[in-house]
Amino acid sequence: MKYNHIDVIGLGPGHPDYILPAGLKKIKEADVLIAGERNLEGISTSGKEVLIIRNNLKQLIEYINKNYHDKKIGVLVSGDPGYHSMLSYIKKNTQGIEVRVTPGISSFTYFFSKLSLVWQDAVLSSVHGEDTDFIKLVEENKKVFFLTDQKITPNYMANELMKKGITHKRFFIGERLSYADEKISCLSVDEAAQYPADSLCVVVIADE
Ligand SMILES: C[S@@+](CC[C@H](N)C(=O)[O-])C[C@H]1O[C@@H](n2cnc3c(N)ncnc32)[C@H](O)[C@@H]1O
Repeated sequence: MKYNHIDVIGLGPGHPDYILPAGLKKIKEADVLIAGERNLEGISTSGKEVLIIRNNLKQLIEYINKNYHDKKIGVLVSGDPGYHSMLSYIKKNTQGIEVRVTPGISSFTYFFSKLSLVWQDAVLSSVHGEDTDFIKLVEENKKVFFLTDQKITPNYMANELMKKGITHKRFFIGERLSYADEKISCLSVDEAAQYPADSLCVVVIADE
């Protein structure tokens, strides 16, 4: 019986250059890393037990509850753990275990930096696996950031906005942020409606 906690560690947008030194230290100290496949790219896992996150959340939680006393467990999540990550699910399902969080650079802070735009006046949202009324948010706010997914893509969003006659916005689309093939585009609604973005993607929809 050695430990009373697990670590949830934010990895930033993806490229290892954007992992904070505090996160790297936690990763080095861990006996077990639990992470999605993409999040393990560029991470040294030598000598560690590695569990991949797939459609197996229940089993991973069972593993954590059974092993956290004896093994130092680190759960790696993309971006910052406080922004649409597994953190809430882990906390809810590991009662009695202290969950320590190491921050990471969120895809939204990274993207706004790349755009040279401030985000204190932006609404932060997500359509990633969530039933968000994005049309209302875009109609009512001058700058809205969204995490997207394979279903609610920027071109789907642009088409839905066009159906409502909202054609005066700009789409800033960030694909594969921080990787060598990162792509950032600034498009009209009309152009965005035809743009086939990568599935790893975020979007800012703003007034022109
Ligand atoms: C489960 S959420 C995680 C968000 C993360 N906690 C954060 O702070 O950015 C996954 C979504 O984040 C966005 N995302 C994460 N990394 C990205 C990257 N390198 N490039 C573009 N989008 C990214 C995508 O919208 C993806 O569908």
